[in-house]
Amino acid sequence: MDYIKRIAITGGAGFIGSHLVRRMVQRYPQFLVVNLDKLTYAGNLENLSDLKDAPNYAFEKCDIQSLEAINAVFKRHRITDVIHLAAESHVDRSIDGPLEFVYTNVVGTVNLLEAARSAWADSFEGHVFHHVSTDEVYGSLGTDGFFTEHTPYDPRSPYSASKASSDHFVMAYFHTYGLPIKMSNCSNNYGSHHFPEKLIPLMINNILHEKPLPVYGDGSNVRDWLWVEDHAAAIDVIFQQGKLGESYNVGGLNEWSNLDLVHYLCDLMDRKLGKEEGSSRALIKFVKDRAGHDHRYAIDATKLTKDLGWKPSLRFEEGLDKTVDWYLSHPEWIENVTSGAYKAYYEKFYE
Ligand code: NAD
Ligand code: TYD
Repeated sequence: MDYIKRIAITGGAGFIGSHLVRRMVQRYPQFLVVNLDKLTYAGNLENLSDLKDAPNYAFEKCDIQSLEAINAVFKRHRITDVIHLAAESHVDRSIDGPLEFVYTNVVGTVNLLEAARSAWADSFEGHVFHHVSTDEVYGSLGTDGFFTEHTPYDPRSPYSASKASSDHFVMAYFHTYGLPIKMSNCSNNYGSHHFPEKLIPLMINNILHEKPLPVYGDGSNVRDWLWVEDHAAAIDVIFQQGKLGESYNVGGLNEWSNLDLVHYLCDLMDRKLGKEEGSSRALIKFVKDRAGHDHRYAIDATKLTKDLGWKPSLRFEEGLDKTVDWYLSHPEWIENVTSGAYKAYYEKFYE
């Protein structure tokens, strides 16, 4: 079959990538989806085991740090479009070792831009390179205000600095070469298949195993949480209908302080696990704050809602309920991802 589009989704074996790959494969049989992923500790093909027989899905193990490897995938599949999610994504790891963030997030992104620029050199018409980024490039907010698409970049962690740098390269390729790019900057995601180094899955896993719940600083930092499938829906609409050369903010209008969120999760899991009220809250342990810890993120997604009609589909309480249920019914997934290397990571950072 000749497909209308042959889309490389990078980082498709990760948390957000796997939700996006599933959505695109299932909704658009007229598109070929090529999942291009290195399978680092964060990439897990088990996340997509339900798709292995789908005719419009292919997997390519590929490191975006190698331009040669990317070029080979572009050639093999005659890639027409890119949705780029592959990245080192955890702030704490970036503080511990920033260089891998530069190699993957900055150099890897420029490699992909170069691969697209040469593969589509005959004409850029009809192609799209959608770069998936984060609200963390905007820095940290005080108690009020929101990030809009016009907020100046002010990254403050090695992770956000590497993402900001990649965003600048993407925009530079639009202005310099006319490469047909689109970009989105999203707030914190949550949902199933989320690696338990991030706040919500880490807390769920620790509550389950009755381990201490490490809250950084005094727990007053605020994040704006969005259901991962709503992010995938936003990427889909921006990729297909967004304007070339523009960026779109994606967020849930759903701000929670870390401590309030951990309390909520403790109470929810006590009810679900039939535990005495307050027993999980007793596991909370305030630990040393993250270096350069951004105080608050909050997204104004008006442009995306007004121009493209996107809005979040789930209330946070419903989304958390579904998320906790997914973790409770997939102990083997948690077991697999937290064995081996995860144990060493956990000991290094928390014990
Ligand atoms: P993740 O860490 O769960 O997944 C990253 C994926 O990229 C993994 O499958 C990994 O194997 C792959 N990868 C890493 N290095 C690679 C390399 N050199 N070559 C090829 N593949 C490589 O990340 P996530 O949370 O799903 O985030 C996906 C994207 O969305 C990232 O670009 C991130 O910056 C952005 N983002 C994430 C959030 C969030 O809350 N998680 C919010 C906004 C934006
Ligand atoms: P995280 O999930 O790492 O996302 P990000 O730093 O990209 O926003 O962290 C979310 C918030 O939770 C952040 O303010 C740091 C805090 N946090 C803790 O308090 N304890 C933890 O163990 C982790 C992983 C995060």
